[in-house]
Amino acid sequence: MTYLECTRCGEQLSAENPQTVCPKDGGVLYPRYDLAALKARFTRASLAQRAPTMWRYAEVLPEPQPVSLGEGFTPLLPSREYPNVFIKDEGLNPTGSFKARGLSAAVTMVKAYGIKKVAIPSAGNAAGAMAAYAAAAGIEAHIFMPKDVPQANHVECVSYGAHVNLVNGLISDCARIVGERKVAEGWFDVSTLKEPYRVEGKKTMGYEVAEQLGWRMPQGIIYPTGGGVGLLGMWKAFDEMEQLGWIGKERPRMIAVQSTGCAPIVKAWNEGKAASEPWSQAATLAAGLRVPKPYGDYIILDILRKSGGVALAVTDDEIMEALQHWARVEGIFAAPEGAASLVAYRKLLKSGFFKPGDTVVLFNTGTGLKYIDVIARALKLDRPATPQSRQIGGIIGPF
Ligand SMILES: Cc1ncc(COP(=O)(O)O)c(C=O)c1O
Ligand SMILES: [Zn+2]
Repeated sequence: MTYLECTRCGEQLSAENPQTVCPKDGGVLYPRYDLAALKARFTRASLAQRAPTMWRYAEVLPEPQPVSLGEGFTPLLPSREYPNVFIKDEGLNPTGSFKARGLSAAVTMVKAYGIKKVAIPSAGNAAGAMAAYAAAAGIEAHIFMPKDVPQANHVECVSYGAHVNLVNGLISDCARIVGERKVAEGWFDVSTLKEPYRVEGKKTMGYEVAEQLGWRMPQGIIYPTGGGVGLLGMWKAFDEMEQLGWIGKERPRMIAVQSTGCAPIVKAWNEGKAASEPWSQAATLAAGLRVPKPYGDYIILDILRKSGGVALAVTDDEIMEALQHWARVEGIFAAPEGAASLVAYRKLLKSGFFKPGDTVVLFNTGTGLKYIDVIARALKLDRPATPQSRQIGGIIGPF
């Protein structure tokens, strides 16, 4: 890695010391590499013998010894329902979501810088991943997440030994609290896009999609968008791969799917704006999509435009139906955020945006197992708290 570059003004900063955002304008910082020099030795063929984790792309990732739990290189499963549709199943990552990728990369750098305490505002899954990688790295993690996060996120963070703060509010309130307290507490802030390395971890999804499709670009990628880091990361990966000579100029149409209960990107897209406005009263059972004002909104909207993509919103009812449909038809028990990708695909197929047979990658960003309480409630499968073990033979149901 040679330097960090501001995505707004192009300012170049050193990666020798911990950096946050651009000191001039608060722009998101991207790590840059000497790809021209790498081109000769970092080839597609050089990947063949490497381990199936995201660190197989080590040359374009942070240099220090990785803090790894085996993240990445998740399956790209051909859909059993739609020809040429693939499901990238991120639920198989450590901690059950794609957040593992970003936090593996970020914690790798945090550890290398000798930082001892980190803080993270999270919609839930990033908190779980943060707590796991902090535990693996021997770093103290301070977690701030809404008090109504899926129960798994709370339980896993406590189990990993993190300091957990449940906040009466949304991820934006959590971010504000971290911002107010971080200097006094000596915390390094690992908020989405407020440090340069989570996006590096997430960009490996773009490398993997290309590699797993035999270096063909799909026509579309559908991505459940909260902070939008995966979308940004994949777009960055495509540019890097072009400079490495791994792919050509072609790009997939990038699709951001959000929930009608929190759709700031969709609103900005429909209004032709360059940035989003804070969404008030954000509410959806797809907890990861409950991000009222993504910090990288200006980059997300730019990517949608450049790629010929679109942003669209789906309802919680549509999400729950799609979640069960995927489970029954594909054998994939998806996170609600992931199921939103299927709803979006159906709509885009119906509208003619995608033709039947177009190669489209749908991201299932997490496993449904982390949403058991949320899904059980939606399906009205709540059970009595105490197992009715004495009523042997008595069927509780039908469900
Ligand atoms: C399962 C899941 N999907 C999608 C998202 C949104 O991710 P991003 O911030 O990269 O848009 C999240 C964020 O918490 C998530 O947990
Ligand atoms: Zn700048």
